[in-house]
Amino acid sequence: MRILVTGVTGQLGYDVVSCLKERQLECIGTGSSDFDLADADAVREYLMQYRPDIVIHCAAYTNVNQAQQEQERCRAVNVDGTRAIALACRELGAGMVYISTDYVFPGDGTQFYETDDRKNPQCVYGRTKYEGEQAVQEILEKYFIVRVSWTFGAHGNNFVKTMLRLGRERQEVRVVDDQIGSPSYTKDIAAVLCDIAVSEKYGVYHLTNEGVCSWAEFTQEIFRQAGIGAKVIPIPSSEYPTPAKRPLNSRLSKRCLDEAGFARLPQWQDALARFLKELS
Ligand SMILES: NC(=O)c1ccc[n+]([C@@H]2O[C@H](COP(=O)([O-])OP(=O)(O)OC[C@H]3O[C@@H](n4cnc5c(N)ncnc54)[C@H](OP(=O)(O)O)[C@@H]3O)[C@@H](O)[C@H]2O)c1
Repeated sequence: MRILVTGVTGQLGYDVVSCLKERQLECIGTGSSDFDLADADAVREYLMQYRPDIVIHCAAYTNVNQAQQEQERCRAVNVDGTRAIALACRELGAGMVYISTDYVFPGDGTQFYETDDRKNPQCVYGRTKYEGEQAVQEILEKYFIVRVSWTFGAHGNNFVKTMLRLGRERQEVRVVDDQIGSPSYTKDIAAVLCDIAVSEKYGVYHLTNEGVCSWAEFTQEIFRQAGIGAKVIPIPSSEYPTPAKRPLNSRLSKRCLDEAGFARLPQWQDALARFLKELS
């Protein structure tokens, strides 16, 4: 079995390739120097040469704020690029895993979103990721859509790294406390993602570490575990305006994971402890 993983230079793709290699599965990881997702011919050519049995499509245009200004580029990468991957998978008879996001949901309320709940993305990035999901569903029968959220990993920029830096530079840090979600370690995601990818239990999944918190609570725990003395000042989102609207509710139900018999991920605090150890 040959597996191609896009986005190997990013947080999740790196950990997915490491996990596949640990399991001694034949795989290759690609970044934007291998092909530009916005170039459909280049995508097809690369996939036809490698001829994977499965593609785990982690790569994406991920700069959520910049996407508001660069809508066309974001759509070319996240929608057209995903479509190009799905078309090549269909031609090859390969399975596809598409990594998506909590941003496909409207982000209101306090409920845990089920995989098939109403979608209503609130920003350009979220819309393009949702259109990517739709392209995969239109083109393929053998597909997985796996939505992740609030990710942190050793290979890329993320909230934990930013807070570690700010906490060491400042006496106090203002962090929003009305956006709720599940911080998720890409190593933990990668482990179950690999189980899902090699199964034939096609469908839509949510994959995050267990437990929920606000960004402010997450920061408090980062500082506590890292021994940083800076004070966390909780603020509402209205005091931290961003170009892209962020979901207040990113709670994702893991019912589909349970029903398919896949393991749930550990609690986010446990994941954070292992991540801080990996960083050090
Ligand atoms: N980070 C989060 O909190 C979060 C939350 C929900 C969902 N997700 C989803 O999870 C997946 C993985 O995210 P991540 O955090 O690992 O992303 P990341 O660290 O930003 O990495 C993005 C990857 O995509 C590649 N890429 C970007 N533009 C490309 C292009 N035009 N052509 C080819 N490759 C391109 C990058 O390659 P180069 O480095 O070579 O440019 C890089 O390997 C994405 O699908 C994202 O939408 C992330």
